[in-house]
Amino acid sequence: MSNKTIHKVIDKNQIYLDVAKLHIDTIKTGFLPTLGIKFLALMYKCIDEAKFSILITNYKDYKLRGFVSGTLGTSNLFKAMLSHPLDLIFVLIPLIFQINKIKKIVNILRYTSDSKRSKFPKSELLTICVHPNYHRQGIGIDLYKKLSKFFKSESVSEFVIIVGQSLNANSFYKKQGAKIVTEIQIHSNINSNLFIQQVN
Ligand SMILES: CC(C)(COP(=O)(O)OP(=O)(O)OC[C@H]1O[C@@H](n2cnc3c(N)ncnc32)[C@H](O)[C@@H]1OP(=O)(O)O)[C@@H](O)C(=O)NCCC(=O)NCCS
Repeated sequence: MSNKTIHKVIDKNQIYLDVAKLHIDTIKTGFLPTLGIKFLALMYKCIDEAKFSILITNYKDYKLRGFVSGTLGTSNLFKAMLSHPLDLIFVLIPLIFQINKIKKIVNILRYTSDSKRSKFPKSELLTICVHPNYHRQGIGIDLYKKLSKFFKSESVSEFVIIVGQSLNANSFYKKQGAKIVTEIQIHSNINSNLFIQQVN
């Protein structure tokens, strides 16, 4: 079911909360979940609304089974968040005294212009998550194909995926034909693989 159809029956803000919750529940090792569900819900709202990015969901019986998000990389996601200044202030207030988190947000903001990252295509798969109850049923592949179709419709021939080396998702991306081209460090102590996926 496409996002447009889902939006007729489920409130959009509920979709963003469902997506944020699934992100937090399935990627426990990442930094973004530590920013809280409201921050993530706002981030996914911006991803869904911006012209340069996309959010694709898979719902069944009003339950979110999985989602994928991606960007063309033609603009910065956090700039899009600035277009909701009041919401942004509201989600950032609880973090104001957490200097480490603010530093990590700045790291993420800087990494797209990082000299190593900027050598590769701008388009990127940002996050893919399937609820653990539905793993290995082909939902991940279905979401991945829909994202690839979006990139193809935007005349993008290849996209980047950056994933922590410890995650099982590395096997998933390899199975889809993505190739590891380098290692990258977004945070000082976490090594990630940078994959490139050709769009057919
Ligand atoms: C990665 C993820 C999205 C895969 O979703 P999925 O719906 O289970 O994947 P599929 O059923 O479409 O799997 C397709 C193929 O990928 C490979 N694969 C998927 N999960 C795998 C795993 N945990 N270990 C090894 N291979 C895996 C398999 O080859 C699988 O085919 P098979 O089941 O016939 O062997 C899911 O495991 C997930 O949400 N992980 C947690 C979130 C995460 O780490 N996301 C990536 C960071 S952005």
